[in-house]
Amino acid sequence: MAGQREFRREALDGLTGRVVELGAGNGLNFEHYPTTVTEIIAVEPEPFLRERAIEAASGVSVPVRVVDGAADALPVEDSSCDAAVASLVLCTVPDQDAALTELRRVLRPEGELRFYEHVVSQRPRFARFQHVADATLWPFFAGGCHAARDTLRAIERAGFIVETCRRFDFRPTPMVAPATPRILGVARRA
Ligand SMILES: C[S@@+](CC[C@H](N)C(=O)[O-])C[C@H]1O[C@@H](n2cnc3c(N)ncnc32)[C@H](O)[C@@H]1O
Repeated sequence: MAGQREFRREALDGLTGRVVELGAGNGLNFEHYPTTVTEIIAVEPEPFLRERAIEAASGVSVPVRVVDGAADALPVEDSSCDAAVASLVLCTVPDQDAALTELRRVLRPEGELRFYEHVVSQRPRFARFQHVADATLWPFFAGGCHAARDTLRAIERAGFIVETCRRFDFRPTPMVAPATPRILGVARRA
């Protein structure tokens, strides 16, 4: 099974132009952007992570602007981005629909959303386990993360057309079992 670095690279492969990355964290994606990207606007609300992202940005060849902001009010103009990236973040934002509406707003018509997310399982027993995790300790120990979100459905509901979506399991350690089912793909602004 490939590691997370390979998934990040796959999610970003072929991107061009101006890109907004939602909840960039400490900037683990930055080194995987292709040089055809002309600017990355990396939105990160958490000050400690934002500082780490600024450090990561200084070591990559693609220009990265790390900015404070939150998913429900992105500090980015309407229709100004060629692509948006959501990587392991739609599990954590307080309101997925609001976040996806914002991502759609800042994308140009036919701009693309690249997603790499962990999601609710298609296997009912595992999905039940994820719902129990969400109702108990998982969000507390995983920084507000939710294991049982149907993120692909939310992407479609927000007005994106899903062009590709690869489903797979990834469990680097038993501790992150609730986050095992993953999706990786491309959706286009309708
Ligand atoms: C698991 S980390 C993923 C970080 C990064 N996207 C990655 O792929 O490594 C979740 C990220 O979501 C961010 N986040 C949480 N709530 C947010 C919000 N309302 N708006 C934007 N980002 C948010 C966190 O600060 C954190 O950086």
